[in-house]
Amino acid sequence: MEQDKVLEQAKVLFVDDEENILRSLKRLFMEEEFEVLTATSGDEGLKILQGDSSIGLIVSDQRMPGMNGAEFLEKAKKVAPMSIRMILTGYADVQAAVDAINKGGAFRYIAKPWQDEDLVQTVKEALNRYSLILENRKLNKIVKKQQQELKKWSQELEIIVQEQTMELQTNYDNLRKLHTRLENNFENTIQAFSGLIELRDKSMRNHAKNVAELAVKIAEAMGLHDREREIIRVAALLHDIGKIGIPDVLLGVSFEDMAAEHRVEYMRHPIRGQAAIDIIEDLREIGLLIRHHHERFDGKGFPDKLKNIDIPRGARIIALTDFIDIHIRRHPGDTGIAPTLKKVKAERSKMFDPEIVVFADKATEEIYRKRQFDDDFFEKELSPKDLRNDMVLSRDVISGTGLLLLRKGTTLNDTNMTILRRYYDLDPAKKGVFVMVTR
Ligand SMILES: [Fe+2]
Ligand SMILES: [Fe+2]
Repeated sequence: MEQDKVLEQAKVLFVDDEENILRSLKRLFMEEEFEVLTATSGDEGLKILQGDSSIGLIVSDQRMPGMNGAEFLEKAKKVAPMSIRMILTGYADVQAAVDAINKGGAFRYIAKPWQDEDLVQTVKEALNRYSLILENRKLNKIVKKQQQELKKWSQELEIIVQEQTMELQTNYDNLRKLHTRLENNFENTIQAFSGLIELRDKSMRNHAKNVAELAVKIAEAMGLHDREREIIRVAALLHDIGKIGIPDVLLGVSFEDMAAEHRVEYMRHPIRGQAAIDIIEDLREIGLLIRHHHERFDGKGFPDKLKNIDIPRGARIIALTDFIDIHIRRHPGDTGIAPTLKKVKAERSKMFDPEIVVFADKATEEIYRKRQFDDDFFEKELSPKDLRNDMVLSRDVISGTGLLLLRKGTTLNDTNMTILRRYYDLDPAKKGVFVMVTR
């Protein structure tokens, strides 16, 4: 269909110096659908070609005065490169035909004299060829255009993808930075809170840290998952936060040594601790573990006298590790490990969950054995004669009759040691003098 249309539009140009030949050619093609143009010289032919771009076939006689056929076709090729060119030549003039084909790019030659039917057939074939060339060119143009569009489109797409990737990466980086900052802030805040109580009571230095470390070790051994371990760790770091409000006289005094009214006050610290952090929604679960860290497995603990597995698991673990750290620090070096673990076993099913106690030995050994050479303080009970300059009291020194001799935190020197020894002779205290020593 497309081809027919091209054929209708395509024209044929005949160039011959003999007008009667041109006339007969016109007659021959009168019935055809395509238009026939004629020129009597190469010059005239070129003029027509310059003014009309729809000439699909040029047929030229070879022998013409002035410009011959081969020369004309050579020039015509430059004016209308797409057109098909043919040469009309006598049998004798083969060299002229070869020239026309080589120089003028002629498609073929037609021998003179021609058979009318052959010539009509040849012209039709040439126009068909011309239409195929045009069609092919058109298709090539479309393909090329589409390729360019596709290329442009894929480049644009690549840019968009790159931009989006960069944006995503930037967002992700920012979120990660923010997350890290929040995490660091949270950890720093917890550490700061945890350290507050130890600021007041130097004998408990690193207590919260040890309790947390040991609790995490045991939680790991029990196979608890990450989130529960983290809750236990933070709760352990903060377990005694409620002690911030208790009077100085209770600091450094063991529960057994407290007067009855002081015990009541002391027993409030788990609830106070829970209340202190309850306003922070994220810490509620942690608050619950803090509240119950002094419950006993047999139900005789405080503040709620919870029993057995009614006590949250994390609180049962912290109760155990709290006890272990307090008892171990009463002995020098690692000598506290064995007696403490012995006490722990004696309290199985009383103070502690027997299923958790199972994990105590290994975890305690791992945490405290390596501390032998750590720059860590612990409390030591000495007789007055063993005191040395620069030792720091970890508890108040009270005479046998209850007189306060030296305050906790006092650094010993020759003067106060002399007074202290004199009192110990006159009015002997029930216990030795408690000092902080480095491991
Ligand atoms: Fe406590
Ligand atoms: Fe504690």
